[in-house]
Amino acid sequence: MSRFLADLPISPPDPLLGIMATFKADPRENKFDLGVGVYRDESGNTPVLAAVKAAERHITDHQASKVYEGPRGNAGFCEAIETLVFGGQAQARAENRVASFVSPGGCGAIFLAMTLAARTSPKGRIWLSDPSWPNHLKIAGAAGRDALGYPYMDPATGTVDFPRMMDALRHAAPGDIVIFQGPCHNPTGIDPTVEQWTYLGDFCARQGLFPLLDVAYHGFAQGLDKDMDGVRAFLDACPETMVAYSCSKNFGLYRERTGCFLVQTTSPRDAEAVASHLADIARAVYSMPPAHGAAIVETILGSEELTALWQSELAGMRERMIVLRGQLADALNVATGTDAFTPLVHQNGMFSMLPLQGPVTDMLRIQSAVYMPASGRINLAGLTSETIEPLAAQLAPYLQAALR
Ligand code: LMR
Repeated sequence: MSRFLADLPISPPDPLLGIMATFKADPRENKFDLGVGVYRDESGNTPVLAAVKAAERHITDHQASKVYEGPRGNAGFCEAIETLVFGGQAQARAENRVASFVSPGGCGAIFLAMTLAARTSPKGRIWLSDPSWPNHLKIAGAAGRDALGYPYMDPATGTVDFPRMMDALRHAAPGDIVIFQGPCHNPTGIDPTVEQWTYLGDFCARQGLFPLLDVAYHGFAQGLDKDMDGVRAFLDACPETMVAYSCSKNFGLYRERTGCFLVQTTSPRDAEAVASHLADIARAVYSMPPAHGAAIVETILGSEELTALWQSELAGMRERMIVLRGQLADALNVATGTDAFTPLVHQNGMFSMLPLQGPVTDMLRIQSAVYMPASGRINLAGLTSETIEPLAAQLAPYLQAALR
């Protein structure tokens, strides 16, 4: 008998998902989950949003069939996400220059982007912020693309290091793909200003780069409209732009794998060509996207009442994270006797970076049940007002050593 599998090595678990599993298995009572990017409320739970529950009831009562929707998926959902991203009045939409497809989560949208870009610019390399969400690199690899990093963060100020970023991006060649995240950069929480977004869009257009904007935390920074200011400025400046949109966090639909891939093009013909390739790529990988999450979002955004409910729940999540940022910055400043953590307050979304890496994060996990990735990223939404001070006390000696 042939044994195809006997020599197959065990593949190491994804570091982030590994943290999730070890946290769950840790029997200690006082443990801190700063790992995977999931929103938690003050009781440490991630409940289903009330707007989602109401939409699900509506779908159960009214859905007449589970028949295939086709490779694009739910068209009503796609149009609703186009409105969230572009706004109601965008010229590109009025001129039928946008292609949009339901995708299996934000990851699925990024995969569609990488694969589409491999068809339009086979030699194009992928530029990622350094640091970036580790899965960007993985998806680039899965789509057979080489990746390079561009500096992103100035640790001294906790803001974008724009001069160093641009120095690196000037080496990008026409046809290269550049991934920008906005808003609520993962893992730093640091976003470009609107002026910087405009500059980046204009730069990509002039250099012949094909940008992908990864939007996974819409509504977590300053509000639904405000959060799109930078993205829309970029779209205005760069006519050919891809956008990967995730509904995992802002609709709390994590496991439903609900995302949208959008491409702004310069002509209806190009939008049609893009759509034909997306249908072809989807067919080969998953044929058609999952429907349930997209139906939920379509139902919410198609009802004034449910939209208002969702917006107030989203505002609740955002405001809680803003409060936690302030409390954590204060607690870390006090615990370390510095003001080094004040920049946390000006960062956005669930994540920020602490100057703690590798072996220190292992030690924190083993000795103090503090779970965070080896990069030093923390998920602030895993904190509560009660856990902040005990956490700051555990982190203080390591942070003081790092700041010396
Ligand atoms: C994260 O970065 O923790 C989230 O985006 C979850 C994930 O899939 O990695």
